[in-house]
Amino acid sequence: MKIVCIGGGPAGLYFGLLMKQLDPAHDITVVERNKPYDTFGWGVVFSDQTMDNMRQWDPPTAQAIQQAFNHWDDIELEFKGRTIRSGGHGFVGIGRKKLLNILQARCEELGVKLVFDTDVDSDADFPDADLVIASDGINSKIRNKYAAVFKPDIVTRPNRYIWLGTHRLYDAFTFVFEKTEHGWFQAHIYKFDENTTTFIVETPEHVWKAHGLDQADQAQSIAFCEKLFADNLRGEKLMTNARHLRGSAWLNFQRVKCEQWSHFNGRAHVVLMGDAVHTAHFAIGSGTKLAIEDAIELTRQFKELGDSPDKIGQVLQRYQELRSVDVLRLQNAAWNAMEWFEVVGERYADQLPPEQFMYSMLTRSQRISHENLRLRDAQWLGGYERWFAEAAGMKLPPHVPAPPPMFTPYTVRGMTLKNRVVVSPMAQYSCVDGLPADYHLVHLGARAMGGAGLVMAEMTCPTPDARITPSCPGLWNKAQRDGWKRIVDHVHATTDAKIGIQLGHAGPKGSTNAPWDGDGADRPLPAGNWPLIAPSALPYLEDGQVPRAMTRADMDRVRDDFVKSTRLAAEAGFDWLELHCAHGYLLSAFISPLTNQRSDEYGGSLAHRLRWPLEVFAAVREVWPRHLPMSVRISAHDWVEGGITPEDAVEIARAFKAAGADMIDCSSGQVSALQKPSYGRMYQTPFADRIRQLAGIPTIAVGAISEADHVNSIIAAGRADLCAVARPHLANPAWTLTEAAKIGYTPLAWPKQYLSSKSQMESIFAREKAMQAAPAYKEPA
Ligand SMILES: Cc1cc2nc3c(=O)[nH]c(=O)nc-3n(C[C@H](O)[C@H](O)[C@H](O)COP(=O)(O)OP(=O)(O)OC[C@H]3O[C@@H](n4cnc5c(N)ncnc54)[C@H](O)[C@@H]3O)c2cc1C
Ligand SMILES: Cc1cc2nc3c(=O)[nH]c(=O)nc-3n(C[C@H](O)[C@H](O)[C@H](O)COP(=O)(O)O)c2cc1C
Repeated sequence: MKIVCIGGGPAGLYFGLLMKQLDPAHDITVVERNKPYDTFGWGVVFSDQTMDNMRQWDPPTAQAIQQAFNHWDDIELEFKGRTIRSGGHGFVGIGRKKLLNILQARCEELGVKLVFDTDVDSDADFPDADLVIASDGINSKIRNKYAAVFKPDIVTRPNRYIWLGTHRLYDAFTFVFEKTEHGWFQAHIYKFDENTTTFIVETPEHVWKAHGLDQADQAQSIAFCEKLFADNLRGEKLMTNARHLRGSAWLNFQRVKCEQWSHFNGRAHVVLMGDAVHTAHFAIGSGTKLAIEDAIELTRQFKELGDSPDKIGQVLQRYQELRSVDVLRLQNAAWNAMEWFEVVGERYADQLPPEQFMYSMLTRSQRISHENLRLRDAQWLGGYERWFAEAAGMKLPPHVPAPPPMFTPYTVRGMTLKNRVVVSPMAQYSCVDGLPADYHLVHLGARAMGGAGLVMAEMTCPTPDARITPSCPGLWNKAQRDGWKRIVDHVHATTDAKIGIQLGHAGPKGSTNAPWDGDGADRPLPAGNWPLIAPSALPYLEDGQVPRAMTRADMDRVRDDFVKSTRLAAEAGFDWLELHCAHGYLLSAFISPLTNQRSDEYGGSLAHRLRWPLEVFAAVREVWPRHLPMSVRISAHDWVEGGITPEDAVEIARAFKAAGADMIDCSSGQVSALQKPSYGRMYQTPFADRIRQLAGIPTIAVGAISEADHVNSIIAAGRADLCAVARPHLANPAWTLTEAAKIGYTPLAWPKQYLSSKSQMESIFAREKAMQAAPAYKEPA
């Protein structure tokens, strides 16, 4: 085959040498516009895992890299006068020039032709090639030429960064954060050879501009960074080698993705590789890894399917199918890490203490979990767990290890939860006349025995017409109060869990079927409907029952109904009260602009839409005992254009905080049938995080939190204070006990009646873990 690689970066060179090694008969040329020793940038890093991969594919290259690279394990944070270090992270750093020279030398050794100093204009310049590799980097001309085919999606990110070098030598991957009068700057620092260290400085655009850096040339920018990081640099200078860049040399990261990776130009197949087809932010240090792994995968496919011209189409298709999945995974992780550095100044640097800031930084990609950190550096994590437990008020003798964050207590008002797990409220549609009876005693009683700190009863309604379905529970009469009291007393008498109730009014989503009846959930009852009320006369479903827009008299009545229910809830002995302002029910419908289109003082701006829900909250808080907590569940994102956004959710949280709410329970959606949520593991946790840091109120995270590892990571990083777990508790009432056994947390107290299961379960999980034990996954943090 005749192969031409346009661009002699890691992708083009490595692919060239791998294919030549596969069959020396291939005619391979790499064309590069720069001179052999002329490149931008300083050092790059990749993980031990990438090195293992390279060792398998071309041992001599791996060997040469190994001799030249700098390996280190530690990550160090310098922040607010503190230095915190954790180990086990496994990185390799190498100068970009050195890496390219190794690849160039190996190409020459194998007989790959290298052409330098040649700026390629088009793939058409190689009419006799069978395969053209467009490895021409982030600004790929070839990608742009065939943009209609490749359909690139390019996003320019808001932070500014400058890629510098220094002769100060560091023995860890170091992150330094410095605050100026305009905001925070961070430096990502790693040594890559005996004399030199990469020093990337990053800051948000507005901070960069406020310092006049948009007007500064390279020398002025360097002088600024030297002054800012003077303590850290210890007298060493910063250097640039990006003289080819015009202006200030501060860049914005561009995230590149392409829908299609290859194209037949009429003569040859053209395929994108490396940064030309995808980029990953340097916060995760994996752009070179991706380029190298693209080259490996394409070679593997030629090896498996045949390396002759007639196979190219099939090979390229398979290459995209396989690589696009891995790349997307890594781009997602890189995206999280990048976003963390974009918001760190506004969201974490001033809010989190240095210990927690370090934890948050290490888990920024959300791919490194609590247990993964334990595998990397058990001693550091043990120290952090102790710090966390003590911050949570635990007094631990020196020889007693601290519990994982999930099992630390949490105190709010006069009440302490034994741990951070909440059984999330879940409608059971199993009442007659709104009366909780034996079903609820067994259901809630079992979950209270199952280890969670707080068990929330499902949405309970102040009046019959406030219910979602005729089978929903109520709290409007003494019989219901006594029904609830029987359950509350049982939970208090037999467990050390707390029990809460969620009060809510269905509003426009009332008078419907239980999910298993008639036409299913949200569909109007076939008969026996009751009139609905809402902020505006808009049905939830297009063909659903139309509610009546509430009058001020309706608002007074419903507010007073909530107050009456609250009094009954206090008499029933509940420990916690949650006001349901989420999921498109009545209070939520007032908050969202999609469902509240009133023109009076209860509609319009967010402040106006919040007016009546806040009035209800204040009235309820007034009669709910002062020593007991109240949370508010909100939909932090409507997932519909024009609906509530996560930014609005911060404002909503601030308003409820000012009204006296203790916590915000951060759910999302179900406000509009047009919603398009992005589901995924812990997908609503970013809302809890954002609200906690920006509104300064404790939060409950909920949604696809299904393992102890999730809970520990969320709580430890300060993304939320409690985690509500719903569906996993339907399958397993003893979810918390089970998860404790799974992670080997044996000091947990089990109910005495269940004790004989404890050690059995612990040893089953310990055995399973031992069998699965495999080398730890290593991703550069
Ligand atoms: C600040 C910063 C820090 C980074 N840190 C890391 C890190 O720590 N680890 C990591 O893995 N990655 C890092 N990267 C990313 C990494 O540099 C790239 O992902 C990687 O180099 C991609 O390899 P590539 O071969 O696809 O593209 P490139 O390395 O960009 O190579 C493309 C080559 O094509 C040449 N070229 C372009 N157009 C033409 C043309 N028309 N004709 C001829 N030649 C052409 C260019 O001169 C260049 O040599 C970082 C990037 C930046 C900006
Ligand atoms: C059967 C069922 C009933 C639910 N009922 C309620 C409810 O009454 N009130 C509420 O706020 N959320 C309710 N939810 C939402 C859950 O509390 C939770 O927010 C959601 O299921 C996401 O958590 P998960 O991924 O752990 O299941 C319900 C969820 C389920 C599965």
